[in-house]
Amino acid sequence: MSQLQDNFGRRFHYLRMSVTDVCNFKCSYCLPDGYRPEGKPSFLTLSEIENLVAAFAKVGTRKVRITGGEPTLRKDFTDIIRAVADNSEIHTIATTTNGYRLEKHAKEWYDAGLRRINVSVDSLDPRMFYQITGENKFDEVMRGIDAALEAGFERVKINAVLLKDLNDKDLPRFLHWIKHTPIDLRFIELMETGLGHDYFKAHHLAGADIKARLEAEGWQYDQPAAEDGPAQNFSHPDYRGRIGLIMPYAKNFCASCNRLRVSAKGKLHLCLFTEHGVDLRDLLQSPEQQDELIARLHQQLQQKKETHYLHQGITGVTQHLASIGG
Ligand code: GTP
Ligand code: 5AD
Ligand code: SF4
Repeated sequence: MSQLQDNFGRRFHYLRMSVTDVCNFKCSYCLPDGYRPEGKPSFLTLSEIENLVAAFAKVGTRKVRITGGEPTLRKDFTDIIRAVADNSEIHTIATTTNGYRLEKHAKEWYDAGLRRINVSVDSLDPRMFYQITGENKFDEVMRGIDAALEAGFERVKINAVLLKDLNDKDLPRFLHWIKHTPIDLRFIELMETGLGHDYFKAHHLAGADIKARLEAEGWQYDQPAAEDGPAQNFSHPDYRGRIGLIMPYAKNFCASCNRLRVSAKGKLHLCLFTEHGVDLRDLLQSPEQQDELIARLHQQLQQKKETHYLHQGITGVTQHLASIGG
């Protein structure tokens, strides 16, 4: 079965599969005004997920990241991990979480087959953490990260969206943290979404500025490995941790795009921005529909654009990233 490839020669081994829009945090950059999904949500069921992953695996997917909203709010989260792990073609199962349920469940998820965890920690100052996330859960999240390392997760990545006049002052604390701790820290440049225009104007910090600050402190750019996604990685001889920069406004950011997204309601999104998504759900109802589903994937891939045009101020239809899994 031929592998998914777009018109720009990019291949897609990496599926970001959202399993819920719901989140129990209200990060100010992500869910302004505490957005909640409309109506009674009907998210992908376990069997739809199995059919989805089976089809993607047939056309080259080897890594699945379970996203949200907050994916771990799904009561059947462990079953979802198991269902993905049952597919022998999938080599890496990852999730991105706010870390709230990690302390209690890290071991259970590891045993089910989860191998990579990215945790959002936007500040190491508990008051700033509260100001950004709207939740006083800093200690729980930090204990969750320890629990993950103890449970056997080799790679815990920490995501922080660096924001002007908010957590940008935390950079020295973050660096101090990874001096002796083998954590992959990722600074994400704020992206403008449909709901976040004013917020973006007030708090956007250019990725190039963050990069300059790191380089001034002796951090060195590492050449990317072939399978790396769009993050630029840096290391420092005196630090155990590493840093990745996600700079979506940088030139060529999209050139190394290696991922596709499916929303919690079963829509294929070729990019975080600029498009509505194409429904796959009608073809997730039975394994017999697999060939038809694969044909739709190939056909849709031809529509994938070269870039997201964020740098031209186009946020498309994406209102906030919780709806599409970041
Ligand atoms: P790895 O799988 O570990 O490489 O991480 P990842 O960057 O794919 O996953 P994660 O969920 O931790 O992503 C962190 C954030 O980076 C996302 O929530 C987005 O904000 C941003 N990001 C990830 N992929 C893309 C992308 O393709 N385009 C843009 N513009 N941003 C992305
Ligand atoms: N800009 C950049 N990153 C965002 N995230 C959510 N909304 C935005 C935005 N507007 C990121 C969070 C989290 C991941 C799930 O999505 O930092 O790590
Ligand atoms: Fe929830 Fe993540 Fe959005 Fe924060 S960034 S509100 S944790 S989905």
